[in-house]
Amino acid sequence: MARILVTGGAGYVGAHACKALAQAGHVPVTLDNLSGGYAAAVRWGPLVVGDIADTARVMELIAREEIAAVLHFAGRIQVGESVRRPDLYYAANVGHSLAFLDAVIAAGVRVLVFSSSAAVYGHPHSTPVREDHPLAPVNPYGETKRVVEEALRWYGAAYDVRWMALRYFNAAGADPEGEIGEAHAPETHLIPLLLEAALGRRPPVAVLGDDYPTADGTAIRDYVHVTDLAAAHVRAIEHLCAGGESGALNLGSGQGHSVRAVLEAAATVLGRAVPHTLAPRRTGDPPVLVADPERAQHILGWRTTLSDLPTLLRTALAWHMGGLCDRR
Ligand code: UFG
Repeated sequence: MARILVTGGAGYVGAHACKALAQAGHVPVTLDNLSGGYAAAVRWGPLVVGDIADTARVMELIAREEIAAVLHFAGRIQVGESVRRPDLYYAANVGHSLAFLDAVIAAGVRVLVFSSSAAVYGHPHSTPVREDHPLAPVNPYGETKRVVEEALRWYGAAYDVRWMALRYFNAAGADPEGEIGEAHAPETHLIPLLLEAALGRRPPVAVLGDDYPTADGTAIRDYVHVTDLAAAHVRAIEHLCAGGESGALNLGSGQGHSVRAVLEAAATVLGRAVPHTLAPRRTGDPPVLVADPERAQHILGWRTTLSDLPTLLRTALAWHMGGLCDRR
């Protein structure tokens, strides 16, 4: 049993990780400023409302709560916004993360798991993508993740911090028990948009490009269930606390699905077609982004068990039908 500080624990992946930590016998202590997350999603340990860059507060919290390790999720996550406002992304994702890292180290914690992203690869030249593929982000969001990964490498060596950067591919789905789910504002992700379109809560979902060099012309992604992601975080913390090596790991299913394949799988789960339209490509979207998860499987003994499309869609649908307002 360990007491784990979870920044961004009120957000989508963070809240699922808190549940997984608690189920594994750990105590998640969430630090979140609630700028993107929901207090009601923090159910498995205390919530401290505050900023990660408030170094005195972070140090005091680590000492008071006897924190053994850190999961760092907090940050801005919208690719499009990062292109329009890189200043916000450098401040939140780099500046605040570095201030937080200083506080963590000063407070004596030496184990940290960081939320990175497949966005660090940019437009990969080979697929599936391995961790040793060159990092060439094509937007400020991905660049800020890359910068923090580099900082972890140098800080880790200098200050004896064991760390992991977990590069998420397309996080999707919801807690199979329906306690928490995905509720971004604004929502830009394919699966919640198409489910809400099918439920009549939004206009038809736009298929963003059907002229990609793929079999059906739509872009291919590796959708990974958020509960599978959460399980990888628990394993990463336990691996590092047991003295395991630091490094970056891809978290994906290893399976790619086109936008059309997702629409078809959703139609099967829903029992009706998903209303959709066709629109031009979104700037910066790579045609294919699929993980090679072999390294995470090997180092963490991690396997996805919920990341097939029907389970992803069924759990997301159950959450969306439960009524978002009840859960915020
Ligand atoms: N898509 C549509 N219509 C939409 C929204 C998305 O067709 O309304 C398509 C996209 O073009 C893409 C796929 O559905 O091919 C998935 O799009 P998402 O917006 O759900 O996810 P992304 O692949 O764009 O983004 C994810 C993460 C980011 C991360 C990125 C890495 O959400 O945090 O992968 O490139 F940066």
